[in-house]
Amino acid sequence: MIDVSAAALLEAAPDPLVIVDGRGHVTEANGAARTLFPGLQNGRPFAFAIRNPAVLDALAAVLAGETIRETEWEERRPIERAYHVRVAALGGQTARALLAFRDLSEARRIEAMRVDFIANASHELRTPLASVLGFIETLQGPAKDDAQARVRFLGIMQTQAQRMARLIDDLLSLSRVEMREHQTPSDRLDLAALAQQIGDGLKPLAAERGVTLVLDHSGPVLVAGDRDELLRAIENLVENGIKYGASGGKVRISIETIRGEAILSVQDWGPGIAPDHLPRLTERFYRVDIAESRDKGGTGLGLALVKHIASHHRGRLQIDSRKGEGATFRLVLPLYPQDG
Ligand SMILES: Nc1ncnc2c1ncn2[C@@H]1O[C@H](COP(=O)(O)OP(=O)(O)O)[C@@H](O)[C@H]1O
Ligand SMILES: [Mg+2]
Repeated sequence: MIDVSAAALLEAAPDPLVIVDGRGHVTEANGAARTLFPGLQNGRPFAFAIRNPAVLDALAAVLAGETIRETEWEERRPIERAYHVRVAALGGQTARALLAFRDLSEARRIEAMRVDFIANASHELRTPLASVLGFIETLQGPAKDDAQARVRFLGIMQTQAQRMARLIDDLLSLSRVEMREHQTPSDRLDLAALAQQIGDGLKPLAAERGVTLVLDHSGPVLVAGDRDELLRAIENLVENGIKYGASGGKVRISIETIRGEAILSVQDWGPGIAPDHLPRLTERFYRVDIAESRDKGGTGLGLALVKHIASHHRGRLQIDSRKGEGATFRLVLPLYPQDG
């Protein structure tokens, strides 16, 4: 026998719980239930607090002798919410029932996001795939003996196939970060060295776009992190700066430590981003200009990945920009804990 009262148990439960007697009058309710049903009063019919027929039917059935009934309760006002409701007989001399409510809103929200994500990813893959299939057909038929067309079409097919490959790489990177979400990375890494490595790697792209790449830091800055993830994050930011900010002619990577945090900033002097786009930039597949992004080999997943990597490191991504004045992306990370 456990040494707690039924009332204490009820009160400690996180989900709304209500007990009614054989007439459907409330005899007990916990705090969560009183929050959910502000009109709930002991000794008064539960039907006064909730008007949903499915829930009341389930309750009536249990009070009439059934052991368990489950149903769903959805409301649109004052806010949209959905609950799974389980009504169970409590046994004993007289009929009594326990109503338990489980909030489904979060599960529904995640489900909607998942469906959306799959729809977006499929759509992004279908476009280049349709183009590749179209060119294969043309090469098998009308352009069979046209050597010039063949060279040109193969070139386009290669570009489209590379786009699909990039998309799949980005999707896999995202899912890898998500899979490791619950282990905070802890390797001792020098952020300056990582930035240097990315800067060196992107020199050719910068040169091709006429962009000068500048790296500013004064010695090593140690953070606790995952090497591959941080490289990916920095690479995405610098690459964006080069690609979208090329007109500014310069991209500056700088590293500072401020109040126990490492801050890696990537600044460009390109066209910048209008304020209404800023809050949505880190959404998956969100792009200010889809055609421009595609043209530059973008997938729309880069900043979503950077944000994910930042939060995996218990850090954050800050974006500062004004239309016409360039953009600064800051990756803020906790410093590697000092000895002692
Ligand atoms: N430095 C920047 N200057 C202007 N716009 C940018 C910059 N970085 C990102 N953006 C905008 O944010 C969008 C999303 O970036 P990202 O998630 O990296 O996707 P992608 O580069 O694959 O399009 C880009 O399509 C672009 O419109
Ligand atoms: Mg990008």
